Amino acid sequence: MTEESNSQSPRFFIAGNWKMNGSMERLQSFHRVFLGFSLEGCRLALCVPEPLIHAAAKVFFGTPLSVGAQNCHARKSGAFTGETSADLLAECGARYVILGHSERRALCGETDATVREKVKAAIDAELTTILCVGETTSERTAGQHIDVVLGQLEAAIGEAVSCSNTIIAYEPVWAIGSGQSASTNQIEEMHNAIREWSTEHSKPMQILYGGSVNPDSAADIAALENVNGFLVGGASLDPEVFKSVALSAMRR
Ligand code: PGA
Repeated sequence: MTEESNSQSPRFFIAGNWKMNGSMERLQSFHRVFLGFSLEGCRLALCVPEPLIHAAAKVFFGTPLSVGAQNCHARKSGAFTGETSADLLAECGARYVILGHSERRALCGETDATVREKVKAAIDAELTTILCVGETTSERTAGQHIDVVLGQLEAAIGEAVSCSNTIIAYEPVWAIGSGQSASTNQIEEMHNAIREWSTEHSKPMQILYGGSVNPDSAADIAALENVNGFLVGGASLDPEVFKSVALSAMRR
């Protein structure tokens, strides 16, 4: 399934990343809070742990919440114990998949090359990829942050990638889970650089910011010109808090 509105007037997109958190009960609590809720100009998704995807697609019926996954395998099937194909994620109800998250790069040894293969698999399965890029503290201190991020994009984005199948999420590694998002100047600088890169490559994709977004910081970050949405971790775990992030972002 492609992002119908991306190429014309893309709606602000807020995706939650539950990481290894969540339960059937948590799905129900989101259903209660989001049933009948709608926010003009805003799309919402929750990327939940794999075993919850199928249930989430059912439980979120009647809410504006789409469902996403947090990883996929690059191959369609085979002897890969414990892995899941992009096709099966789509069959179970996922519309999105987060790929290249810094936790997977750091903890699971994912490289730019594996991320590139997975992005291709997601496109083939008609999932929309939320492609994560971001620099570490030492890379920023060394003044390499823009080169690192554009290098990650260059490495992960192949021919088939377009604004209808891929969304970029800039997530400075040092801001994730820290409680302190990057400053608006830092975000603006990076999002402008990514926008310029994507325009030069004729791939005008939506660019999300992620890293300690919360209801207090959302409005100021959402107001920045090249911020087209958020990837939200901790603040996506509670339905009322996630809703506040969305309401605050739309007041931008
Ligand atoms: P955070 O996580 O909002 O808790 O910083 C963001 C992410 O890891 O995607």
